[in-house]
Amino acid sequence: MKTDTSSLEIIKSTTSKLDQTKLDKLVFGEIFTDHMLECDYENGKWKTPKIKPYGPIELMPSAKVFHYGQAVFEGMKAFKDEDDKIWLFRPEENFKRINVSGARLAIPEFPKDYFFNGLEELLKIDKEWIQKGFGNSLYIRPFVIATEECVSAAPSTKYKFMIICSPAQAYYSGEVRVKFSETFSRAADGGVGYAKAAGNYAAQFHPTNLAKEEGFQQIVWTDANTHEYLEEAGTMNIFFRVGDKLLTAPTSDRILDGVTRKSIITLAEEFNIPVEVRKVSVKEIVEAARKGELKEMFGAGTAAVINPIVGFGHKGEKFELPKLEDTYASFFKDKLMKIQYNQAEDRYGWRY
Ligand code: COI
Repeated sequence: MKTDTSSLEIIKSTTSKLDQTKLDKLVFGEIFTDHMLECDYENGKWKTPKIKPYGPIELMPSAKVFHYGQAVFEGMKAFKDEDDKIWLFRPEENFKRINVSGARLAIPEFPKDYFFNGLEELLKIDKEWIQKGFGNSLYIRPFVIATEECVSAAPSTKYKFMIICSPAQAYYSGEVRVKFSETFSRAADGGVGYAKAAGNYAAQFHPTNLAKEEGFQQIVWTDANTHEYLEEAGTMNIFFRVGDKLLTAPTSDRILDGVTRKSIITLAEEFNIPVEVRKVSVKEIVEAARKGELKEMFGAGTAAVINPIVGFGHKGEKFELPKLEDTYASFFKDKLMKIQYNQAEDRYGWRY
C-alpha cells in the first residue's frame, strides 16, 4: 500500500533506548520501542494520527475505559528478512478484526489508511528494533480505549487509538501444560468471545491463577453451557492431533477467529494433513489420551506462534503427551515462519 504521510504528524524522539536494551533474552511484552502512534476520536471523527516518542498518556480518572472496560486490541508481528526488509503477516486480518471487535463494543470504525500508513511509518522509524533471525520479531499492539470523562454507562464519545511495539522472542519460556476448565468459561453465546476485548483477557487471570497453583500454565476453556467441548486456550487457539487427524474447534460467537489458526488450517489442506474443524469434546480427547491416540496438542496465536502443549489436566487427573520426533507443531511452525521471514514462496499473498 502507498504511504501517504500527509495524513500523519511525526515527532521524533531525540534519544533512543535501543543502545541500553538487551535484545537477546527478551521476556514477552516488557520493553517498548522509541515511538508510538496515537489518534484521537472526537466530535464524530478520527483526528490526524501522530507518531511521537513512547511515553505516558494523560487521562482523567473518569475516562470510561477505567469504569466500563470499553477497549479492544490486536496483536500483530513484524519480521526482518536477511536483506533487512520488513514484513507483516496478514495485517488486513488484524485491521478487519479490530473493527469487528470495536463494533461489538460500540467503538467507531478506525480508518484503513490511518491504520496502514501509521503502522508503516512507525515501523520505518523504529526499524532498528526489529532483529533478524528466526524467532525474533517486533510484537505490534494496536488498541483503542474510551476516553470520555463521564461515568454514565453509555458508549464513550471520545476514543484514543494507539499502536505500541515491543521486540519479542518466545511468549512461553518453558513447557506448557494446560487444564481443561470444568467450571469457568471464557465466553458465552451472544457474548464478546469473538472480539479481542480487553476484558476477555482480564477475566481469564483468576481461573488461570488457580490452574497455575496446580502446575498448569494455561486453561483450555470449555463451552459455557455444558463444559463438554474444548474451545480456546488462554492466549491462543488450540489444536489436537488424534492419530494423524488434526482437530480444532470452529470459530463462533465465543471463539476468536485467530490469524495463525486459519493459516494452519490452510497449510494443513495444502499438505494433505487431514484437518477437521468441528466441536471437539473433552470426552474424546481424554479417551484418545488413555488409548495413546492423542499424539499432540498445540496452541496457535500471534504472540505464542505455535506452542506445543506437553500435558493436560482434567478433573484431578493429569495426562502427559508422548514426545514425538516429527510433530505437526514443528512442521506448521517451520512452514509458517519461513513464509513470515521471507524464506519461502508466499503462495497465499500473506506477506505484506
Ligand atoms: C496475541 O497472540 O497477539 C494475543 O493477543 C495474545 C495476547 C493476549 C498476548
